[in-house]
Amino acid sequence: MNYDTRYPSVADLKKLAKKRIPNFAFDYVDGGIDDEHGKRKNREAWHKVEITPRYLKDVTDADTTTRIFGYDYALPIGVPPIGLGNMMWPGAEIALAKAAQKHNVPYILSTFSTTKLEDIAQAAPDVCWFQLYVPQKVEVMKHLLGRVKEAGYKTLVITLDIPVGAKRNRELKNGLKLPFSLTPRIIWQSMIHPTWAMQTLAHGQPDFVNVLQYKDGPNFELATFITNFAMNGVTRERIEMIRSMWDGPLILKGVQFDQDFRDALDIGIDGVVISNHGGRQLDAAPASADTLRTLPAEIGAKMTVMVDSGIRTGMDVVRARALGAKMTFSGRSFFWGMGGMGAAGAEQVIEIYRDEISRTLKQIGCGSYLEMDKTWLK
Ligand code: LAC
Repeated sequence: MNYDTRYPSVADLKKLAKKRIPNFAFDYVDGGIDDEHGKRKNREAWHKVEITPRYLKDVTDADTTTRIFGYDYALPIGVPPIGLGNMMWPGAEIALAKAAQKHNVPYILSTFSTTKLEDIAQAAPDVCWFQLYVPQKVEVMKHLLGRVKEAGYKTLVITLDIPVGAKRNRELKNGLKLPFSLTPRIIWQSMIHPTWAMQTLAHGQPDFVNVLQYKDGPNFELATFITNFAMNGVTRERIEMIRSMWDGPLILKGVQFDQDFRDALDIGIDGVVISNHGGRQLDAAPASADTLRTLPAEIGAKMTVMVDSGIRTGMDVVRARALGAKMTFSGRSFFWGMGGMGAAGAEQVIEIYRDEISRTLKQIGCGSYLEMDKTWLK
């Protein structure tokens, strides 16, 4: 086995992360919104996707590669954008980017990451994509996109599903701001996790390094920062403007409504990530598995369909393929790996998924991820 079998699943890494990192960091990644039912609903919806296995065939080999935008990735699981990545473990974002490059899976850097976009592009030149929270000011957007292009990113992902910063109760109670406000709670939680605290001191505390130069004011809760910096609702006009400026693959993330999918197609968008932001924005949003299942047929036929929210196992990745997706993402999986094991967690998560995806394909009698289709659904 190419991973540490004391922690053979993402669920085990989550337990480990909870012990090793301060609560405010754990809560940031784990948290949903309101009573956090949407987050549970995402998991339940994947569980409801039943696959009928096929036997009477040789399954010595199973091909886990997937092809999107003319590029072959080794596995249909990638690292989605997560803000504040280095808060989970100092250096997490660079470690994840290097592991993604080595194992040939996509790595999407968040606008609100805590590592400079130029450094990530160097660490993962072939597999890095950039996620854009669309700045309100057009000149800021043009400057940022100029840097993104210059750094070598070819694929751009625009997140649509944060028209307003979410009221996340765990973040409010923890007083989470960047840079950290040194409240008694933050100081205490750091002190009782000394390894994390020492490494954070050595590494420098996390901040919004990609957008610091456009920021006015000292330190903010994420929701306030998002509401001040990003468009309060990205308009079709703005997407059309970005389309005219960006010649590589352009992806919309967070699309859920049928007409929004059709508009995306109309604007010339290349792909979508079906997502409800991991249940972090709207508790009543449909589960991603359900949105994927009911996607208008012409969207699946004409665009690259990807999905996140609630993916935790290789089985889920295979379920997503049966419902029509060609790539999946799971932020919490990768950040539980980092929180639990530090830099080694990146490869641990990739290897767990590789093993689970490969075994699942063999178990259901499917020789190749891409060959799988909805006929496997029960
Ligand atoms: C979040 C944003 C930053 O969910 O993506 O916290």
